[in-house]
Amino acid sequence: MNTRTVRDLSDDELRGRRALVRVDFNVPLEDGRVGDDTRIRAAIPTLETLLTRGARVIVMSHLGRPKGAPEAKYSLRPVAERLAELMPRTHVEFSAATVGDDARGAAERLEPGAVLLLENTRFLPGEEANDDALARELATLGDLYVNDAFGAAHRAHASTEGVARHLRPAVAGLLMEKELAYLGRALAEPKRPFVAILGGAKISGKLDVISALLPKVDRMLIGGAMANTFFKAMGLETGKSLVEPDRVELAKELLAKSGDKLVLPTDAVVAPTLSADAPTSAVARDRVPADQAMFDIGPESVRHFAEIVRGAKTVLWNGPMGVFETPPFDAGTLGVAHALVEATKGGATTIVGGGDSAAAIAQAGLEQQVTHVSTGGGASLEFLEGKELPGVAALDPA
Ligand code: 3PG
Repeated sequence: MNTRTVRDLSDDELRGRRALVRVDFNVPLEDGRVGDDTRIRAAIPTLETLLTRGARVIVMSHLGRPKGAPEAKYSLRPVAERLAELMPRTHVEFSAATVGDDARGAAERLEPGAVLLLENTRFLPGEEANDDALARELATLGDLYVNDAFGAAHRAHASTEGVARHLRPAVAGLLMEKELAYLGRALAEPKRPFVAILGGAKISGKLDVISALLPKVDRMLIGGAMANTFFKAMGLETGKSLVEPDRVELAKELLAKSGDKLVLPTDAVVAPTLSADAPTSAVARDRVPADQAMFDIGPESVRHFAEIVRGAKTVLWNGPMGVFETPPFDAGTLGVAHALVEATKGGATTIVGGGDSAAAIAQAGLEQQVTHVSTGGGASLEFLEGKELPGVAALDPA
């Protein structure tokens, strides 16, 4: 770890001090309540550590993508309610103001051992613009800065990056530390065989990660609609499947240069339309009917992928194998999830990138049975692409 963390702070740096903590509480809301509290629970160890060591904790986060102005449906108030339920012994307050006299006053009045959650940072126009005046203003809310928002670390925003220019110490939280450690170790010193499984709709969004991982892995399994673009490159009939015509040439190049490292599905589940009651069939990849589309990898591919995963010592998974939100097109994704669980039992390190694959493994109830499920979607992808995360680069070096 190249970054200073909360563990490295002295008691003097914490006792009675206001710790301004950026978390990623960008969680789904359903009927005004938190739908999935994984990201909230993931940040609690950092909050507890700071509280136990006598700090006063001021928490900030974004939620959704409001356009720099308040929007009731993106308020963090329901998140404060959930946080209070999850920390029953802690006084948790909510501030309807993110900055300004009201927010500063609430932060100053806060007792040691208490938590104040500020309203959505993206209600402020300067947040995504990484406006320096806003960063300076945010910095007045704390005596030190902690970034535990791994999920937002790929964003150079005022609350994730700019604020660290004006507030020191600036350190990583425990979740940030854990995420960087798991993902970093997998890339730097993977036990072999090292297998990556990539899926999702579009090859265009995964090109950088494919290029970054191909030289490192022993096998790369490709599923999801992005496999269709490879099928097209192989001259196969893809019917009504989602294909990116402008990436076909590139898929050809990848196939030519990567030899047998790239493993594509050999069969697919096809249907005329994407709906739960559509008539489906499993066909070999060279037998896709012209009037149907591929919505999942087929059973033979699941068996083949599972066999490779079971033989691996390090597995990185990012992106679903099919349209897992619409059963029966979830079978391929679930098959891969179960293979990861078996590999974990066999001693492999298994890491699930955030976003859709994290949602899929949670839907299957298997998230405790793999080594690590990242709380970051875009952030874990950018990390795997080898990019520097601005939210991490802004922190104090170790
Ligand atoms: C995420 O959910 O991936 C993070 O919270 C970042 O959200 P964003 O893509 O809206 O910046």
